Amino acid sequence: MNDQPILQVQDVTKTFGGIMALNRVSFDLHEGEILGIIGPNGSGKTTLVNCITGFINLTRGKVFFRGKNITGKAAHKIADMGVTRTFQIMRPYYSLPAYKNLVIPLFSPRAKRTGGWRGGGKLGDRNTVSIDILEEMGFERESFVPYKMASTLPTGYLKRLELARCLSLRPEIILCDEVFSGLSMSEIASMVPLIERLQMEGITLIMIEHRLRELFRVANRVMVLNFGEKLIEGTPVEVMADEKVKEAYFGSEKVEEVTGYA
Ligand SMILES: Nc1ncnc2c1ncn2[C@@H]1O[C@H](COP(=O)(O)OP(=O)(O)O)[C@@H](O)[C@H]1O
Ligand SMILES: [Mg+2]
Repeated sequence: MNDQPILQVQDVTKTFGGIMALNRVSFDLHEGEILGIIGPNGSGKTTLVNCITGFINLTRGKVFFRGKNITGKAAHKIADMGVTRTFQIMRPYYSLPAYKNLVIPLFSPRAKRTGGWRGGGKLGDRNTVSIDILEEMGFERESFVPYKMASTLPTGYLKRLELARCLSLRPEIILCDEVFSGLSMSEIASMVPLIERLQMEGITLIMIEHRLRELFRVANRVMVLNFGEKLIEGTPVEVMADEKVKEAYFGSEKVEEVTGYA
C-alpha cells in the first residue's frame, strides 16, 4: 500500500501587504478521499486553493504532489500534472457554446496525453469528447444544453461546466471552490451524486463549502480555517463537536440546524 499522501501542504503562509491571509497552514490529502474545507468568509480558503494550484505565489511554505515539490510552479504546469481547480467566481468563455469551453482545455498537452476523462489515452474528436463529458455532468443532450451559449446558462450549469473543465484534463485532484454556492436545494441534491461518482472513479477531491449539511454527506474529513489559520481537522462528527468551531463558525446558530449533526 502506498501511504504517501497525494498532496502535502506544509506551513503555507500568504500575506497581502499587511494582511495575513494564510498563516502556516499544513495538511495532508490522501489519495481517494474527499477533504472538506470550511471557514467563515475571508478565512483564506480561496487563497489556499490559489497557492496550491500556482495561481498565486506563496509567501512561505511548501506544497508536494506525490512527493514532488510543486511550490512556485506555474499554474499550467501544476494543472498539467493533474492538479486542477474550479473557480468560485466562474470564468467560462461566455461567448462560446458550453461544449466549446471544453474544446479549449482538450487542446492542452495533458488532455492530448491522457485522452481526456474517458479517452483511455486516446483523444477522439474534441467536440464529441466535450459533449460526452458535459452529458455525464448533467447537461441534457436531448435538450441541446451542451450547445447553449455559456452566457445563457444558469449558475447550476456553470458550476458543472467548471467541473467538466477539470475532467477534460483527466485530473488526479480537483479542488472545488464552493461548487454548491448559489445553487438551489434541488440543484445541490443533483450535484451531490456527481461528486460521489468522481470519488468512486478515483479522483481525490478538496471541497470548500458553506453548505455544511451537503458537504458532510460527502466529506471523509474536514479542516476548519479561521483568520488564515487551521483551527482543527477531523471527521465531520469530531469537527462539529469542537467548541472552537462552534464559536468561530456558527456564532449563535444551532449547529444541528446547519449541519444535521447534533
Ligand atoms: N489578491 C488579494 N489582494 C489582497 N487581499 C486579498 C487578495 N485575495 C484575498 N485577499 C484577502 O485575504 C483574505 C482571505 O481571502 P479569501 O482567501 O478569498 O477568503 P475565503 O475564500 O475564505 O472567503 C481576505 O482578508 C481577503 O480580503
Ligand atoms: Mg473564497
